[in-house]
Amino acid sequence: MVIDWSFWRRMPVIFGAAFLGGLVLVGAMLPVATGMFDRWSRRDVDMRSRLAFDSMRDQVAELAQRGDSDRLVALFERIADDQRLIAAGLCDAGGTMRSASRQMQERFACSTLPAGADEVALTLPTAGGTIAVNAFPLPPYGRVVLVHDLGFSTTRVSRFRAGLVLAFVLVALIAAALAALLALMFARHWLGLLRQAIDDLREGKTPPQQPALLGVGEDIQKALDELDFVRKRIDATHTEWTPETLTVALANELPGSEVIVVSNREPYIHNETSKGVNVQRPASGLVSALEPVMRACGGTWVAHGSGSADRATVDSADRVAVPPEQPSYTLRRVWLSEEEQDGYYYGFANEGLWPLCHIAFVRPVFRESDWAMYKAVNAKFADAVAAEARRPDPIILIQDYHFALLPRMLRERLPQATIVTFWHIPWPNSETFGICPYREEIIDGLLGSSILGFHTQFHCNNFFDTVDRFMESRIDRDTASIALGGHDTVVRPYPISIEWPPTALASAKPVPECRAEVRERHGLPADIRLAVGIERFDYTKGIIDRMQAVDSFLTDHPEWRGKFALLQIAAPTRSKLASYRNLQDEAVALAGDINARHGGDGAFAGPIVLVAEHHEPADVFTLFRAADLCVVSSLHDGMNLVAKEFVAARDDEKGVLVLSAFAGASRELGEALIVNPYHTHAMGEAFVQALVMPEQEQQERMRLMREQVRARNVYRWAGQMLLDASRLRKRQRISRLVAPPPRAVNGTRPSPVGA
Ligand code: G6P
Repeated sequence: MVIDWSFWRRMPVIFGAAFLGGLVLVGAMLPVATGMFDRWSRRDVDMRSRLAFDSMRDQVAELAQRGDSDRLVALFERIADDQRLIAAGLCDAGGTMRSASRQMQERFACSTLPAGADEVALTLPTAGGTIAVNAFPLPPYGRVVLVHDLGFSTTRVSRFRAGLVLAFVLVALIAAALAALLALMFARHWLGLLRQAIDDLREGKTPPQQPALLGVGEDIQKALDELDFVRKRIDATHTEWTPETLTVALANELPGSEVIVVSNREPYIHNETSKGVNVQRPASGLVSALEPVMRACGGTWVAHGSGSADRATVDSADRVAVPPEQPSYTLRRVWLSEEEQDGYYYGFANEGLWPLCHIAFVRPVFRESDWAMYKAVNAKFADAVAAEARRPDPIILIQDYHFALLPRMLRERLPQATIVTFWHIPWPNSETFGICPYREEIIDGLLGSSILGFHTQFHCNNFFDTVDRFMESRIDRDTASIALGGHDTVVRPYPISIEWPPTALASAKPVPECRAEVRERHGLPADIRLAVGIERFDYTKGIIDRMQAVDSFLTDHPEWRGKFALLQIAAPTRSKLASYRNLQDEAVALAGDINARHGGDGAFAGPIVLVAEHHEPADVFTLFRAADLCVVSSLHDGMNLVAKEFVAARDDEKGVLVLSAFAGASRELGEALIVNPYHTHAMGEAFVQALVMPEQEQQERMRLMREQVRARNVYRWAGQMLLDASRLRKRQRISRLVAPPPRAVNGTRPSPVGA
């Protein structure tokens, strides 16, 4: 049977309307009712007066005829004894009081009566209150006057008014109580049906099989649509994502929430130097993306304390307020022994997972001892995060491949937490990932997350395929979720970005100054056309390949010799690992070789300037502004923020970006010259295209790319993840509200969606 709840659903509205209608009615009725009451009281007085006059008419006539004024006064006094009658008397035809009871003098004068001998009824305001005067003709003696006090009528009207209001308030209260009761009954029934619907969905039934739930299905849909609407509204209204909009979005959507970030690399490294303690900002895309977010929303960042002065700069709880120049959040450092770093960071993370996930043709190494250390360090961080949490349900933002097991470990320690994990590097296809001996544990660890983010849809798809291939789970690509062991994880793309406007741009020098300064610093001719490459010295970045492209370009276009140089800034990284040391050696040798073959006349050392040094953000921006082109030739990259930073640095709208098709950034920056870094000749030709590109074309391309980076900045990246987290928490709340008492289903208990 299909129950039509639509009428009952409207009952509370109907009662609410009735309540309001009642109030309006009371307001409108009061003056009418008061008027009626006044008229009724007046008629009552008239009637009483007539009765009194009729009863004394003959006696008054007789005493008046006799001229017995004493007895006439006595008669009037007796009549005036009546409660409401104030006075009685006889006015002659000339308007003079012949005889009257005592009070007549103070309250009424015969001259007030209209001339003539007609019967009269007057209502007169006096100092002692309103009076009613009735005058009855008694020819030939004049008119008998009876004066009534109308005060009783006023009292009666006030009482009537109070009674009326009281009655309406009572009726309104009863209506409201009835409405509340109905709403409650309805809500109970609705929740019951909702519970039933969720049960049915869990058991695989669909709404059409449950016709009684058709209306409720619509309600669920409506509730979920509303949640979607909240997300869209914030997205739409906050097209300009800024630290402020991020803070507002957090305050609106996640009020009172605690945000904890976990990453291996810390945002500020304190190092001992000969000149004292120096603070370094590491060369890490992850750090440059998350730092502005943390500045905007505060909270705690838990990371490995890797600097030589890190221990000396924390308090007794291993915390330090950062940024040093304007503290706005807390950095909690976790200490790792050398053995732990070797196994967890250098070993499993950087010799295992890093080459596994990047297709750069460096063979991954998996050692059992590294895996054991990776697990132990993940557990150490789980303890640290749990200790930092001040609430049972913090929002934990876990960063990158160093912590694949942490989501599951934290889910066990803080079951109510919303865990958002972001994988900053690519996720390979299932076949490639399948060579990892610990693939199931890693996937299981990640699926402890509430939300798992990658840079691109392509990497999400690879992850779905991998899970599908190796795990017993339920994948729903429509809702982008994976259910494992009764727990759901949403898997979505969130393309990372940079802050906008970039802080470093505010203090940047004008482009001509940057050009001159950089050329002078590196001993380059003032008019040389300059390409820059700035990154960590990592084999995934295609540094060797771009040098080879320079070689190919100068071989094919010798007219550019002496007029072109590539300034390659490469921050040494992970140098403990042979693969990284070898890359540096290879790059130095190749630069020497190319310089020897394409070198100039002595004043010009050669087309490749290789600087293996870390540069702080301000220096990096000076280099970007000095360049004619920027080369990002990653063999494989999750996103690559260097490409976006170059675009951000060029507020003069000049300069060309040469960008690898295998960097996630190429999906967003389509106006760059997109290259295949393995195709050195084509990359060399792209350099030529960049060098001869007319300024107007440079400007048009740069303008479009800048617009893209401006709109899709890092606040939007964080904002979208946090809004999704908020939406999930709302769903969880609904789920918890309607969750049935624990019961066994095939031996397992279903847990709320998205927990
Ligand atoms: C990549 C990784 C980050 C890492 C950064 C620097 O961007 O995704 O997690 O922090 O490289 O590497 P490092 O090993 O020095 O932290």
